[in-house]
Amino acid sequence: MKRLPIGILGSGKGSNCRAILECIRSGNLAAEARVVISDALDAPILDIAREFSVANAYLAPGQFRTRLEPEVENELVNMLRQAGVELVILAGFMRVLHAPMLKAFRRRIVNIHPALLPKFPGLEAWKQALAAGDEVTGCTVHYVDEKIDHGEIIAQREVPILPGDTPESLHARIQIAERELYPAVIAEFCAKYQAAGL
Ligand code: GRF
Repeated sequence: MKRLPIGILGSGKGSNCRAILECIRSGNLAAEARVVISDALDAPILDIAREFSVANAYLAPGQFRTRLEPEVENELVNMLRQAGVELVILAGFMRVLHAPMLKAFRRRIVNIHPALLPKFPGLEAWKQALAAGDEVTGCTVHYVDEKIDHGEIIAQREVPILPGDTPESLHARIQIAERELYPAVIAEFCAKYQAAGL
């Protein structure tokens, strides 16, 4: 069976990364995790990669806070290409990507966001949904472009906002949905890859 070579980028906890690696391990996802890369040296996502024996690397991000220095972004492209990655999966990666990555992996970079985009892009989207008094929020998997939480939407899952929800309880419910939605979307990419290539 032809397995889709994926690379996962993250800056933090790595719960989505863990869910994806578990799906691969249990045979439910025809993907092969080639590398996990983080811009944070002590990010738990790197420990998760080690736990699953996946190659992993720290990418020193340079002087900017929300993006990578251009030469660093080029280095990231090289790392992913050398690993043979076909689909780049952002899982809590806190940097906006620019031309080097977007050109090298056109329509091959996806992200998950904890809201029903285009509503509530940006940080702590679950707090935005609560503050707006909405009854439903959710999560979105989308292609990545040069704007934050903006590219073409691939799939969404709704999550109810319940009376008495706190930011924490709502966030936890959204994350459960994320851990189901992301592997399901990646499975569709795997099927496409097996049939005809991405
Ligand atoms: C996820 O909740 C996702 O919505 C957002 O960043 C968070 C990362 O969480 N883009 P984790 O590192 O996967 O636990």
